[in-house]
Amino acid sequence: MEKTSGYAIIWAVNCPDRNRPTMLRKASPTYSRATSGHISAIKAIADANRDEVGFINRARIVQLVEENRIIVAVLKGKVVGFVAFRHRKTDTQTTLSEICLDQSVRGLGYGRGLINALYQDCISHCRTYIRLKCTVDSDANSFYDHLGFQKVATEAGKVRRLNVWELVVLKIR
Ligand SMILES: CC(C)(COP(=O)(O)OP(=O)(O)OC[C@H]1O[C@@H](n2cnc3c(N)ncnc32)[C@H](O)[C@@H]1OP(=O)(O)O)[C@@H](O)C(=O)NCCC(=O)NCCS
Repeated sequence: MEKTSGYAIIWAVNCPDRNRPTMLRKASPTYSRATSGHISAIKAIADANRDEVGFINRARIVQLVEENRIIVAVLKGKVVGFVAFRHRKTDTQTTLSEICLDQSVRGLGYGRGLINALYQDCISHCRTYIRLKCTVDSDANSFYDHLGFQKVATEAGKVRRLNVWELVVLKIR
């Protein structure tokens, strides 16, 4: 028994996670298109974070899921975050409309994981850039900046001013 715990500590301290025995690996989420079975969990996360993402009604989530426009992060069978988007038909812009992680899993790289999953989806759909708007006083501005988005404008919103952020995907614009 003692040998096993010593072994665990050595692996935990010295080895990259991918090389650890399965039982010692940190859990990480999978990122996939949302299905109808995810709708209630997405709604619950949106409702719990209404101050940051605004009110999103259930009918809109149902529509987004039906149109394949939500990617979810699923950890141990539970939805812990989502990103909603639209691959615009009129040009090669992808619009990110909402991104939200459950409070309990923030700061663990899952937001980056969601953006990365969206980025990969954009590549496979030949999109040239991702665009989003974020209220100027939101903490999320630093997140976008950190991930390589460029602030391209600031404009008036319904209540507060909005920063407009873009991330280049393919340089053929
Ligand atoms: C914004 C949000 C999606 C970020 O997700 P997250 O999982 O907490 O972020 P991550 O852990 O993936 O962070 C990725 C990187 O961004 C950095 N980062 C994240 N939030 C940051 C912040 N507020 N300020 C500065 N850096 C930040 C992290 O340090 C990390 O850097 P690293 O990879 O170099 O260590 C999440 O905080 C959230 O759901 N917020 C509430 C909803 C919201 O505000 N949505 C956006 C509305 S416009």
